[in-house]
Amino acid sequence: MMLTIPDLLRPDEIRQIREALDQAAWIDGRETAGHIARQAKDNRQLSQDDPLAAKLSDFLLARLGESPRFMAAALPYKVVPPRFNRYEGGGSYGDHVDSAVMGVPGSAHKIRTDISATLFLSGPDDYEGGELVVEDTYGSHRVKLPAGQLVLYPGTSLHHVAPVTRGARLAAFFWIQSMVRDDGRRSLLLELDNAIQAVSRDLPGSPTPARLSGVYNNLLRQWAET
Ligand code: NI
Repeated sequence: MMLTIPDLLRPDEIRQIREALDQAAWIDGRETAGHIARQAKDNRQLSQDDPLAAKLSDFLLARLGESPRFMAAALPYKVVPPRFNRYEGGGSYGDHVDSAVMGVPGSAHKIRTDISATLFLSGPDDYEGGELVVEDTYGSHRVKLPAGQLVLYPGTSLHHVAPVTRGARLAAFFWIQSMVRDDGRRSLLLELDNAIQAVSRDLPGSPTPARLSGVYNNLLRQWAET
C-alpha cells in the first residue's frame, strides 16, 4: 500500500525546519549506507548525533503521534527517529531495498522496517528531478509531493531517488515497525476504519459503527504483535 499523509506540518513549521536545515552541517550520505547501498548513494545527510537532527526528529515524532491518518495507516509499534537528507548537483540514490532491520543510535532497539516513509521538506518547484520512484506489483510510481506531505510505502519495495538536476531537495526519511506486519492486512484494517467513519457520518445514532468497530478491534487483536 502506498499512501500520502497530506497535512503533517503547517507552513510556518516547514519554513522553520528549512531555515534550520539551511544552516546545518551536512555530511556525505555514504557514511551511513550499508556495503551495497554505498555504491548507489550520492546525497548528504545530517549525522545521527547532530543535536539539530535530534531536535527536529523529536518534533516530527510528536507530529506523527498527533496525526490520526498516520496512526490508522501505519499502526505503528516502533518508529526509527526521522533522519534528514539533501540532494543537489545531480545527486541521486540508485535502486535499492532498505535494510530489513534498523538500529537506533544510542539504544539497544532494533526496529523491523515494515513501512518506509519520506517527508518532503522542499516544494516541487524548488528543484528539478528528485522524484522518489517506487516499484510495486502495479508498476512504477513517481512521487514528488508538496512540502510538508508524507508518503508511506512498503519496506519491501525496490525504490530510487532520481537525480536532482536543479536546486536542492530536502527531506526527512524514517521507517516504521507496524503492529500489523503484513501489508495486505494493514490495508484491510485501514479500509475498514475508513468505512466505519463513513457509516458514523452517514447514519447518526445507528448501532452499526459500534458493531463494525468491534470487528475492527477483534481483527487487530488477532493480528497485532506488540
Ligand atoms: Ni531507501
